[in-house]
Amino acid sequence: MTKKLISTLRNRTSDNRPAWMMRQAGRYLPEYRKTREQAGSFLDLCYTPKLAEEVTLQPLRRFEFDAAIVFADILLVPHALGQDVSFREGEGPVLDPVTSIGAVNALSQGKLDAHLAPIYETLDRLSSSLPSDVTLIGFCGAPWTVATYMIEGGTSRDRKSARTAAWAALNDQDHWFSVLMDMLVASSARYLIGQVKAGAEVLQIFETWALDLPPSLFERFCVQPIAEIVRQVKSVHPEVPIICFPRGTSATASMFCDHVGCAGYGCDAGADLSLLEAPETRSFVTQGNLDPICLLHGGDALDAEVEKIVRQTRPGHHIFNLGHGILPETPIENVDQMLSALRTAERNVE
Ligand code: CP3
Repeated sequence: MTKKLISTLRNRTSDNRPAWMMRQAGRYLPEYRKTREQAGSFLDLCYTPKLAEEVTLQPLRRFEFDAAIVFADILLVPHALGQDVSFREGEGPVLDPVTSIGAVNALSQGKLDAHLAPIYETLDRLSSSLPSDVTLIGFCGAPWTVATYMIEGGTSRDRKSARTAAWAALNDQDHWFSVLMDMLVASSARYLIGQVKAGAEVLQIFETWALDLPPSLFERFCVQPIAEIVRQVKSVHPEVPIICFPRGTSATASMFCDHVGCAGYGCDAGADLSLLEAPETRSFVTQGNLDPICLLHGGDALDAEVEKIVRQTRPGHHIFNLGHGILPETPIENVDQMLSALRTAERNVE
């Protein structure tokens, strides 16, 4: 069975665009909310393979998606390194902030694989339970994005402490921030390698806060760490396609992909697909970039926007997705509408 997402990323061939959604398992689904309640806490849900498998499969029972992304979170890596992490209702993640060399040295990679073993088990289970035409995606957060949560202690308005630390560390390899970033590069690469061994067929690296970094910092703390992770993963699993999502930086997409060596580039909703380099000459396929608010709104605007994305892209060179995660209040019917608009537009345009 050829899988559409894999043939798009590897060979740039596909009759139509594979489709999936960031955060496709989540609160917009009543069955997710039910399983989440059964699990107790969000972290318990992530660390209970049977339940994590169940919520990963839930969206596939409703929608014709071409991929499933393993149910987990980017903040499981800091948790595995020994940082206190919890998720509070309505508040999001809460971490014990790391802002000194002492706090960085108190973290340890020694138990990383043991701590993350339940995620590997979820992937292993999904390898047998997924429909044969659906691709299994593993993921991690990029070092900069994960570091922002570790330093700020959660979601913050402008990530000021993390950005200040990045400037302080720009030319200082021994600064605690540089030491932390190196640790995140090593542990993320190891985690992704473990995920491929457990059954992940494609990997995605989420750099949600790439847009924080001006060019000098972007090169040093976004591009270089991700390039190193990709290099390490490819040295063990050269065949696995990697998609990167450096949110808000599509103007430098070609430079980014050439430097990093990723097969796919995730475009946020602000990216103008028509301004990206032509598919024939570039080294990567695009993914995205429907605005999650447009999906929430639905109506004629949704049909028109989906058709616009189809007109701006080519089968074999594009993966249909949102520009960011689906919002919890999104009506489920809008997801059905989005997918039928996609297939209708593909018939009409091509
Ligand atoms: O379906 C999937 O996409 C797979 C699972 C997944 C989750 N988080 C589950 C989740 C993935 C790929 C992520 C990535 C993630 N997590 C990112 C990068 C992508 C992005 O959205 O920018 C980030 C920054 C996080 C960190 C995180 N996790 C935050 C800030 C929050 C709180 C905000 C929120 O949306 O609730 C989470 C919680 C989280 N991660 C939920 C889910 C389904 C909601 C938790 C719940 O059920 O209460």
